[in-house]
Amino acid sequence: MPDIEGINKAKQFFTDVPQTSKSYFLKGSNALDWGMKNRLGRIFNPVSGRTVMLAIDHGYFQGPTTGLERIDVNILPLEPYADTLMLTRGILRSIIPPETQKSVVLRVSGGTSILKELSNETLAVDIEDAVRLNASAMAVQVFIGGEHEKESITNMTKMVDMGTRYGIPTLAVTAVGKDMVRDAKYFRLATRICAELGAHYIKTYYVPEDFETVTASCPVPIVIAGGKKIPELDALKMAYRSVQEGAAGVDMGRNIFQTASPIAMIQAVRAVVHENEIPEKAFDLYNTLKNKKS
Ligand code: 5RP
Repeated sequence: MPDIEGINKAKQFFTDVPQTSKSYFLKGSNALDWGMKNRLGRIFNPVSGRTVMLAIDHGYFQGPTTGLERIDVNILPLEPYADTLMLTRGILRSIIPPETQKSVVLRVSGGTSILKELSNETLAVDIEDAVRLNASAMAVQVFIGGEHEKESITNMTKMVDMGTRYGIPTLAVTAVGKDMVRDAKYFRLATRICAELGAHYIKTYYVPEDFETVTASCPVPIVIAGGKKIPELDALKMAYRSVQEGAAGVDMGRNIFQTASPIAMIQAVRAVVHENEIPEKAFDLYNTLKNKKS
């Protein structure tokens, strides 16, 4: 309908103010489409540029992992402190309240168990279900150097293609076999292959030597897995070093939910990741929160 003459509020065209065009805050992500960026922006905090993903998907290949026996009891209280929940569709549908405001990174590869060769995965979720579940990203395991390297890479590239159709990013999870060396050389290879083949961000492990060469040579954001449970201060040191050496956050599971106070630990990890808190201070925070609770 045309404006009525004499409408009381004058139009404001700000003809002297050029429209700004900001570049996107995440490394290597500026050329992505709006939906991809919007979803990544629900995983990574646009202020710190980092994320604290809470990884609780371990059951997809190893059953009720210690600390995850009852996700409704043990994990739901942590939800307010995570930026993102990384989990399977089974746990999402059966336990996570749909009212959650947290983003979801959906585990979409699977099909093997700890009783068999782990690299023999397939795609275990249809893209339509990822859309239905409002996933902010889809996680696929990639076994570089593993027995089923090629199949796992193909799983990832298929998900990248399908996700691109719908605007859903793919997280490549670089998995390390039992007998494989975990060093910067290996992770430079694994992360770079995943990025070159289209993964939008990559999960890897922290290595104490030359980790900054892993983050530098990977053109998209890297988050680190926590790995096996270690003492809390050591886990905080690992998180601190990884973000100081170029990681865009953590995707941590056991070093949060297997601690004496997971709710205190996730807050300590947040301080390290989002506020650059030094590990010793974050450990003090952990103890204070832990003792307050008890
Ligand atoms: C399983 C995964 C896990 O999410 C990953 O290992 C993170 O958890 P943790 O910090 O316990 O290592 O990707 O393959």
